[in-house]
Parts: sequence; structure tokens; C-alpha cells
Amino acid sequence: MQHDAVTERRNNIAPIPFEADAPHLKIVGELPRELNGTLYRNGPNPQFDSPGAHWFVGDGMLHAFHLENGRASYRNRWVRTPKWLAEHDAGRALFGGFGRKLPDAPANLTDGGVANTNIIFHAGKLLALEEAHPPTEIEPGTLATCGYHNYQGRVAGSFTAHPKVDPVTGELVFFGYNAAGPLTPALSYGSIDASGKATRFERFEAPYASMVHDFIVTANHVLFPILPITGSMERAMSGRPPYAWEPDKGAYVGVMKRNGTAKDIVWFRSEACYVFHVMNAWEDGDRIVAHVMQFEEAPLFPHPDGRPTDPEKSRARHCRWTFDLSGNTDRFQQTYLDDLTGEFPRIDDRRAGLKSRHGWYACANPRLPMFGALSGIVHVDGNGRRLGHYLLPAGDTISEPVFVERSKDAPEGDGWLLAVVWRARENRSDLAVFNATDIEAGPAALVQLGHRVPDGFHGNWVGAA
Ligand SMILES: [Fe+2]
Repeated sequence: MQHDAVTERRNNIAPIPFEADAPHLKIVGELPRELNGTLYRNGPNPQFDSPGAHWFVGDGMLHAFHLENGRASYRNRWVRTPKWLAEHDAGRALFGGFGRKLPDAPANLTDGGVANTNIIFHAGKLLALEEAHPPTEIEPGTLATCGYHNYQGRVAGSFTAHPKVDPVTGELVFFGYNAAGPLTPALSYGSIDASGKATRFERFEAPYASMVHDFIVTANHVLFPILPITGSMERAMSGRPPYAWEPDKGAYVGVMKRNGTAKDIVWFRSEACYVFHVMNAWEDGDRIVAHVMQFEEAPLFPHPDGRPTDPEKSRARHCRWTFDLSGNTDRFQQTYLDDLTGEFPRIDDRRAGLKSRHGWYACANPRLPMFGALSGIVHVDGNGRRLGHYLLPAGDTISEPVFVERSKDAPEGDGWLLAVVWRARENRSDLAVFNATDIEAGPAALVQLGHRVPDGFHGNWVGAA
């Protein structure tokens, strides 16, 4: 029967229909005593089925693994967004894809935010993020939803799910796309200081309207990738895909000095590609080097006429981008560093924006037929060379690996890697704890859940104070 269950359930996308508190979870192996804190993870978990809704727009569900003195507990909660509350009251879905309301939804219901993409801790606040709406503040212990946080009214509109914290200043640097309304080419850019005060917020025009999922921040520069998953109101209004793959638009990356303004942005060009996630980037003399997971063609989004993109090309590989700031060229270089399919790159965040010598990402197993499913982890050096590689048992899948340093002053990369693993045969999940510099040895400890955590997006570790 187990075999049948695996055959029928080929993936771990479907939502779970409950919220739970699980104290004293079973642990296999030994949980490092130094791991005191909570891993928060976010991802789509639709409260109700909504016909045709994209995976990206499911209601956010938070999963918190609390580790303390070698013990572990777990709690999950939906984020109580205005959409979630209205649908909960109605007992059915009121929204379809990308903020589109279903025809019978109440006219006064306008906010389709789902807060489902990332969860970060900055300036004493735990914030659930989703790129089309402001951050949603979450109470760290209970996971109760406190509501939108707009920095005393100084930040408005969309706010990326991938802001960067400067490890030197503690500043949170962010941007937003669709900043002048849905499917517009306007971007916003801003910063929040280490005390939680908004210090900057401005808007500018990008070359075209596109989905801008992540960006690049170094010690002195900020880079805005405009890549051709284009947004089109005209398509949306005529029932065609609001977002579509249009490689003819080309790839642009805007480079701005952090102490400059949007007027000074220099646009670099290159071959069409798509990038959801940046691993890290740094300055090297007159150059900026960025490590990204690059797709030749966009995954998950069709051509403008609805045709799917080429699955062989719609997979990401570790790629280095190089920008020459000396003024010799407006082209940037793209160099693939590995042939493995991978996603969800992370680093030791104490090196964010600075040259780093360690990175990790989830990867596919090229020997398995379900090629593309993320079922392993790779550890790489600052040139993308593999330092370690671990593959799960066949059928199991893994989420984003989150690095936790052994102590505040431990050397870069010295610590653990935490990732949620789906056990396909048992149809439940483990929190796997790896030694970050020896992932080949496999998990040093597994925290076992009785249920599964659906595939999701991003998370972060918040250490005990
Ligand atoms: Fe992301």
C-alpha cells in the first residue's frame, strides 16, 4: 500500500488542512545543544481550492520548529491576511490567480495578499513577506498575525520577499515591483535602519514591467534585475497570462550606488534568462560579482499565447554574473558554474554582500526520473566549486537549506544547515540538521513530524536572545 501512496502522490504540493502544536518531537540522532532558537518557514497552503489559481498565490502558512537544549517542538499557523479572514468567514475561495477576485466575491473586498513567501526577523519584528503587499507582522511565539507593518506610514505598496540585511550596519535594504500599480514598470527602493526606522523610500521606472523576485545588494551597490517574465495589463484584461515569458525583451540589470539615487542607475544588458534567487554578490575592484541560480527559460510561466516553456531549459543552474563598472561595456557576463539543477541558494548571512567562501543550495538528482524535484543539497565554495553533495533516498524531497552559525564569532561556514525533508513513502516530514561543512555525512539529527510540511519557499533562523 505504501508503494501505491507514493505512486499516487508524486509530489508534496497539496495543502494540509489543519493547524497544530506538537511538543516534544521525536529526535533521531542528537540535536546540537548550541541550537537554541526557532526555524521559521513560509509557503503556500491554500485554505480553499480556487480553480486555476497559480501555486504562487496560495495562502501563507508558517511552520515554526523551536529547538532548545536538544529538544524540539513545532507549531504551524496560517497567516491571517484580510483575504484569509474573508474566505474563512465565507467558507470558500473569493480570489483566483494573482489578486483576481472570483465573480461572486464581495465588491468591498480588494486585498488579495497571501503573505506566503518568506519570513524574516529585523529590528525586533518577525515579518511574513510576499512581494505584492507590505510585510505582515507576526507574533514570534504564538505565530498570531498582528497585521501589516508599514514603518509609520513611510513605506507603501509592494515590498519584496527578498530584502537584504547588511551584516555591517544592520540596515534592511528592499525594493518593490509593480510600484505604480499592478503590471506597471515602476520599482520602489528603500531602506530601514537597524532600529526599524525607514530612512529612504523612492520610486523609478524600469525598462519594462516584469516579475522581479529578488535583487542584489553589495557593500556599496544595489542591482535591480529586470528579466523577461513580463507583466501585461492588456494580456490580463483579455484573459491571457498576466505574466509570460518574452525573451525578445532581453535582460537588463540596473546598477545603482547605495549612496546615489535612482537617476544615476546604469543599465547593463545580456542574453534573456530568468533568475528567481541570488546566492550572494560582492565587489571586486571595478567589478561586481554575483552568484545566482539562472534559468535559460522561465519555469512556471507560459509564453504570451499560453504555450509552456521548454522543460529542459526551464531549470536553474548556479551561474556567475560579472559587471565591469569601469565603463568599458554595458554588457554583463553570464558563466554557468555547474550543470546540476538547483534552487534556493543560501549563504552564511554574516557575509551578505561581501565576498563569501561558502554557499549551499537544494539540487535535483540527475539519476532519478523525477528530474527537477529538489532532492539533495550542494555545498560550494566562492567559485561555485562543489565542496560537498548529499542526495536523499529516492523519492524524498528537500526545501531551502538555512545556515545557522555555531556561535556569533565562529568562522564563515562553521555551523549547521537546517532543511525540511519530505519522506515520500511515509508521506510526512522531518527537519534535517546537517553539519554545514560536512553535508556528505548526511543529517546529524532528524526532528520527526507525524505530518507533512508541504513544499514551500523560504525561512530563517531566529536565535534565542
Ligand atoms: Fe524566493
